[in-house]
Amino acid sequence: MLWGMSPKSMRVLPPGTVMITGATAGLGLEFAEQLGAQGHPLVLVARNLERLKEVAAELENKYGVAVTTISADLTNRADVDKVALRLGDQKDPIEILINNAGHGLKQSFLVNDVEDEQAHLDIHVTAPMRLSHAALRSMTQRGHGAIINVASVAAFLPRGSYSAAKDYMVKFSEWANSEFADQGVTVMALCPGFTRTEFHQRMDVSADSAPKYLWLEADRVVSECLADLAAGKAISIPSKRYKAIVGAATMIPSGALRRFQSMGRK
Ligand SMILES: NC(=O)c1ccc[n+]([C@@H]2O[C@H](COP(=O)([O-])OP(=O)(O)OC[C@H]3O[C@@H](n4cnc5c(N)ncnc54)[C@H](OP(=O)(O)O)[C@@H]3O)[C@@H](O)[C@H]2O)c1
Repeated sequence: MLWGMSPKSMRVLPPGTVMITGATAGLGLEFAEQLGAQGHPLVLVARNLERLKEVAAELENKYGVAVTTISADLTNRADVDKVALRLGDQKDPIEILINNAGHGLKQSFLVNDVEDEQAHLDIHVTAPMRLSHAALRSMTQRGHGAIINVASVAAFLPRGSYSAAKDYMVKFSEWANSEFADQGVTVMALCPGFTRTEFHQRMDVSADSAPKYLWLEADRVVSECLADLAAGKAISIPSKRYKAIVGAATMIPSGALRRFQSMGRK
């Protein structure tokens, strides 16, 4: 489906409620700001209820849109099911789902406790897969809707289990984009590079661990992403520099990409 034929900066998605996971910080909060400013009612999902309520009140105040919250830990199956139930509500449908919540692991695979690796897999793959399943059932019945899966440029680089998880979301989104296009549903993977959010702070990693020119601002990542969604794309890679990096990475043998392995982890 192609939404909006106006110039890139003026593209507006169709009206309807947007659900954003990980909506209280970083990219999720930026999605909430930009879509709230466009008049979309919002459903915000994260763990910290107090912070959710604060963000909801601020967005309602600023943009005059209805904002509801669901406190859920997306590494917990019962909580994921609670969010999936909301996605199945056809009387108050979710028009756009943004699977964004995530966290990084500072250590390498064998140093990490296997339960930490499991939680990492749960939040980056299992939760978005289950939420996409619920959303796609509702959206295909209605004949419209969209899903953004926040992946990463790491999907195209050898960066351990994080790359593997993000690669799943890219492949899943590419497939679903063509599978459900005829039923009026767009599915897209967003693949940002290093972006200034709380992600690296939460990992206890310094911004100096990646060169300055590689850092992006969240507002730019989100506005390019929304323009790409409106154009019906299957993958969005914000900024020319990361488009070039991904283009090169697909041509370079994986052994030569080893220097990217530990960047952004110290
Ligand atoms: N920043 C980057 O450089 C970068 C680059 C590429 C891709 N990404 C991807 O972008 C996405 C968003 O990351 P960000 O950089 O915006 O991170 P962030 O600033 O740390 O925000 C993370 C958000 O996710 C929520 N969250 C974390 N764990 C959760 C859980 N178990 N259940 C539910 N919500 C949870 C947090 O709220 P609570 O703590 O209250 O739950 C918060 O709202 C992630 O999928 C990440 O992999 C980030």
